[in-house]
Amino acid sequence: HEIDAAQHNADKGEFKHYMLKEIYEQPDAVRRTVEMAVDNGTTSKLRDDFLQRHEAQLKGIKHVQVIACGTSYHSGLVAKYWFESLIRVPCSVEVASEFRYRNPVVVDNTLVICISQSGETADTLSALRDIQKHTPKGLVSLALCNVPTSSLVRETDIFLPTLAGPEIGVASTKAFTTQLAALMLLVLKVGVVQERMTGDNLTTLLGQLQQLPGQLHASLNLDVPIKVMSEHFEYKKSCLFLGRGLQFPIALEGALKLKEISYIHAEGYAAGELKHGPLALVDKDMPIVVLAPKDSMFDKLKANMQEVHARHGELFVFASEESKMVAEDRMHVVYVPDVCETLAPIVYSVPVQLLSYHVAVMRGTDVDQPRNLAKSVTVE
Ligand code: G6P
Repeated sequence: HEIDAAQHNADKGEFKHYMLKEIYEQPDAVRRTVEMAVDNGTTSKLRDDFLQRHEAQLKGIKHVQVIACGTSYHSGLVAKYWFESLIRVPCSVEVASEFRYRNPVVVDNTLVICISQSGETADTLSALRDIQKHTPKGLVSLALCNVPTSSLVRETDIFLPTLAGPEIGVASTKAFTTQLAALMLLVLKVGVVQERMTGDNLTTLLGQLQQLPGQLHASLNLDVPIKVMSEHFEYKKSCLFLGRGLQFPIALEGALKLKEISYIHAEGYAAGELKHGPLALVDKDMPIVVLAPKDSMFDKLKANMQEVHARHGELFVFASEESKMVAEDRMHVVYVPDVCETLAPIVYSVPVQLLSYHVAVMRGTDVDQPRNLAKSVTVE
């Protein structure tokens, strides 16, 4: 029903591009997705009907393998941090085009999660089919997908929907943040059925999930300062995105967004890897975007920022106010609304989307339909 309603709205309305409209739909899309598992106002337990039919399957799994492409792969990378740090379930993540050709080992009792907005990506489907052919013992397959009628959903044991509504812009935005929200719900569900999570932790995370729509809404207010920031990027040739921990996948996603729609070369890097190569690129012409919430990695990240600054790199920092980062020469700071460390990657996705969007508009590219790219890649 929700999806039908969204389909009716699939015009751009007041927005100049579908991508911008879809960025602004994220608070609602994430709220709908969270409400699959959490009743509004109830913060102590998951809804009884959330994945209820699959409890026995989820109880038996010992390892998670995520397979996906593009932006969907990046949400899988965040899920790895969550599966391992929150419930101690080992999780591997791989792009489908590599996974399917390297004769990988899939151990018994693996939950294979295929993440795909469209559910029709050729590499992801083929990788799934290859695993199913070998039928490891206790294999459970799950589609995290935005299209209920897709091939991927038909061919998997479990369907976990993202309730993003139709996504038209080629560069994925609301599909990504709803994937993240749904992955967190799945981690909680596995944590509960396998008794790997205390009641207190569950209650805390459910409460935090319910705050997400409000925080996403507040992060949209950054549109104006980010537009101002984006003016520094118009004539740049290359750009670096840095993050650590849960923000590393968001650095990768930020770089992908910028490449896709503005055609500026961009790379996402784990900030701790700077000294192993990218530091050689840093000069006064190199913009460096940093995802810097005040989390457990902040002090280390700050040292990385100083390394860049000392080499005359220009920093564009998305930080929490609490971090006390202040703008100075060659250091621009935009404050992102406060959010807990675990869910911060969802909220920090918004500023990098807005940054890419404004840079692309300034450069006059076809934002919704970038050259050479397709929304859904159904051939190899
Ligand atoms: C294409 C799209 C990307 C998307 C990727 C995977 O490259 O342009 O936005 O992330 O496919 O698509 P999927 O539908 O499997 O998530």
